[in-house]
Amino acid sequence: MAAISAVVLAAGMGTRMKSGLVKVMHPLAGPPMIAWPVAAALDAGVDACVLVVGHQGEKVRDYFAGRPEIAFATQAEQLGTGHAVACALPELPAATDTVLILCGDTPLLTSGTLSAMLAAHAQSGAVLTVMTASFADPFGYGRIIKGADGKVLRITEQKDATPEERAIREVNAGVYCVERAFLQRAVAELGNDNAQGEYYLTDVVRQAGAEGLTCLSYPVPDAEEITGVNDRVQLAEVARVLRSRINRELMVAGVTMIDPQAVYIDRGVSIGRDTVVYPGVTITGTTVIGERCVIQQGAIIESSQIADGVVVKAGSVVEEAVVHEEVSIGPMAHLRAGSELSAHVKIGNFVETKKVFIGEGSKASHLTYLGDATIGRDVNIGCGTITCNYDGVRKHQTIIEDEVFVGSDVQLVAPVTVGRNSLIAAGTTVTKNVPPDSLALSRVPQVNKEGWKKKKKA
Ligand code: UD1
Ligand code: CA
Repeated sequence: MAAISAVVLAAGMGTRMKSGLVKVMHPLAGPPMIAWPVAAALDAGVDACVLVVGHQGEKVRDYFAGRPEIAFATQAEQLGTGHAVACALPELPAATDTVLILCGDTPLLTSGTLSAMLAAHAQSGAVLTVMTASFADPFGYGRIIKGADGKVLRITEQKDATPEERAIREVNAGVYCVERAFLQRAVAELGNDNAQGEYYLTDVVRQAGAEGLTCLSYPVPDAEEITGVNDRVQLAEVARVLRSRINRELMVAGVTMIDPQAVYIDRGVSIGRDTVVYPGVTITGTTVIGERCVIQQGAIIESSQIADGVVVKAGSVVEEAVVHEEVSIGPMAHLRAGSELSAHVKIGNFVETKKVFIGEGSKASHLTYLGDATIGRDVNIGCGTITCNYDGVRKHQTIIEDEVFVGSDVQLVAPVTVGRNSLIAAGTTVTKNVPPDSLALSRVPQVNKEGWKKKKKA
């Protein structure tokens, strides 16, 4: 089999995005835009990828750092797509026979389409295969000019096209399979005598003809795949398509979505079968969710591990947390980074956790802050409990051992340890360690002044 490398053009700024961030680094369902075409090329069987970067090239390089299959070429000045490919050529692996060229701003191309195109290219023996699409309104695209035998003779850009050429609806999608040796020769011959004064990659088609070599078109089965992103309107449209693909794949694999159009799941998130996802849910990063979970309205789950049978109730936010089997969270709970909830834990409404380990079966059902703490199993944390972890300078640890009962409205002033099986009376401020099996009580005795209210009125 021929060795295939990809060249991905991504040097342009993308001025129509009206952004301080280079176009290809705008996030799309998780990763930056450029990650999508790169993944599609690699999944299609390409051995290596050369990314042509220019504007904010260091951001693109940083994102792909540590990936040996991805190389970079810098195009300092954007002199055209032909010039961009010329910049990439020295970075291609020596063994490359065939080059797949695509753009960093067409994230909807699938690996299936690219591998079918590569197969068609290999089979036809053409020196160059151009992906094409037919549009009712082809404005702005390069037009495909074919001979009577159906071979592609040349591609004419919108700005250079005659009125007859502008009437052609078959357009250049900007994706090419081309034999490397020919590409190298042809790119060296490119000029910039055209309406935009650019080195057009598309002019290599004419050179193939001049050498008596064949250039064929590969009509894309679904024209939606070649949608380019130029502005934020297209960014949103493309994001919707990518998300609906992600959701579809999850549903096919056994996840129920009440209204999939209103569910926002990043690429790379995994969800087990028989889990039900309600509308308005956002699940991002490296999140893994198990089977038979329920994720209710408005939940936001970021880079968290959630085991089987967990219920995340409405409006809860879960960030970089580890949640074991059959835990119940929320409504409106906030698990922050470093929270680990053992099996059968219950975290109720308006409870916030941070850097806390909670043992099996323990409960904090209402209005509580648990931070920098280790909590044992079968502990009951009463309503309004606060771990006072911060003295204004440093954070301190609270340790609550197994089977402790913490009454309502308790403050635990860290560092402090509550020994196993103790009881903290409601309203207590715990400032000293509590030995096991004890009662801790720090309330001011209640005074009842009988008749006081009546006397005051009089
Ligand atoms: C190009 C094609 C056109 C095709 C269209 C499909 C040429 C001359 N024209 O036009 O036939 O219909 O794509 O979308 O190739 N880029 C660089 N360096 C440059 C110029 C561009 O890296 O010097 C990158 C851009 O960042 C972008 C891609 O190449 O990702 C395409 O460039 P763009 O200027 O948008 O090409 P089009 O004018 O759309
Ligand atoms: Ca252009």
